[in-house]
Amino acid sequence: MKFAFFDTKPYDKPSFDRFGKEKDIEFKYFETKLNEDTVELANGYDGVCVFVNDTVNAKVIDRLCEMGVKTVALRCAGFNNVDMKHAFGKIHVLRVPAYSPYAVAEHAIAMLLTSVRRIHKAYIRTRDFNFSLSGMTGFDLHGKTVGVIGTGRIGRVFIDICRGFGMKVLAYDKYPAKDLDNGDTVRYVSTDELFEKSDIISLHCPLTDDTYHIIDEASLNKCKKGVVIINTSRGALVDAEALLMKIKERKVGAACLDVYEEESDFFFEDYSGHIMDDDVLARLISMPNVIVSSHQAFLTEEALLNIAETTVNNIIDIATRGECPNELCYRGGNAEDCKTGKCF
Ligand code: NAI
Repeated sequence: MKFAFFDTKPYDKPSFDRFGKEKDIEFKYFETKLNEDTVELANGYDGVCVFVNDTVNAKVIDRLCEMGVKTVALRCAGFNNVDMKHAFGKIHVLRVPAYSPYAVAEHAIAMLLTSVRRIHKAYIRTRDFNFSLSGMTGFDLHGKTVGVIGTGRIGRVFIDICRGFGMKVLAYDKYPAKDLDNGDTVRYVSTDELFEKSDIISLHCPLTDDTYHIIDEASLNKCKKGVVIINTSRGALVDAEALLMKIKERKVGAACLDVYEEESDFFFEDYSGHIMDDDVLARLISMPNVIVSSHQAFLTEEALLNIAETTVNNIIDIATRGECPNELCYRGGNAEDCKTGKCF
């Protein structure tokens, strides 16, 4: 089988070559992202392998189908970049539901500790032999309240780590887990209570119509002064302009952003020699209390191996059995047509 691999980065190839070779799948690596302009590159391939910032909209899906491409293999968990309603019944859409929840949860914690203990400032100061401590006062995480929105795989690992620090957890999930709330150190609450009582808020839910801009001017107004916002999920969970405004007003104490609403224009690429066109991103990055990483929370050796292995197994499942536990189905479709029972 031959798969066209879009948005290739050097770190993708070793693991996909290894697992592809084992299962006789040949990956043709393209650096470009998949979109309406580049979809022709998929001509002659059995499927496409795509990542978070590839565009799999209705036009791309129709063209893939016309060219006889049968499978869209997402090498990520989120699928907000795929028009699932349009894809339903036309083309297989497979994903990697979990590759390392630890990678993302640990990155969120790394950003939080960096921010509240000013490690990013210390690194720059001491390299310049500036050993002054002024402006470096942080705060203890112990005893603080962290609000966690989304208590799935990543959210739960994040909660476990926070509990290790002696933090109290206020959780919100549209589908709460039965075994998480202990009525004491971890409690499910309404979003309003979470916003009002949390010192730190970390987002671990998917991007859906419900969660779009879940952090906006109205929700930030409800928060404590000095709240720390962590987003390692999807950029559009946060209204970046509202966040910037609230940072300027000193309402938000710090922001740790691994994702950004307009990230597909910039993230994963080197723009160091360019003029930054996105004023909101440029202003956020200029803030001393904002840390931005470019969607790297997933990027650990363990996660890369899991991503490649699961993607290859997904492709083989569909090719040999016509079904795959990691196939995405659209709930608006015909329930009887759902082979996997994994509709969303
Ligand atoms: P998961 O599916 O295990 O958990 C998501 C949780 O969100 C579930 O408990 C679900 O019930 C909950 N949820 C769904 N709709 C909600 C709503 N409207 N309000 C509140 N909660 C809601 O997913 P997992 O593996 O924990 O991943 C979470 C998110 O992390 C993904 O959707 C993805 O966007 C992001 N992610 C980011 C990565 C990065 O490198 N920065 C890497 C991998 C995932």
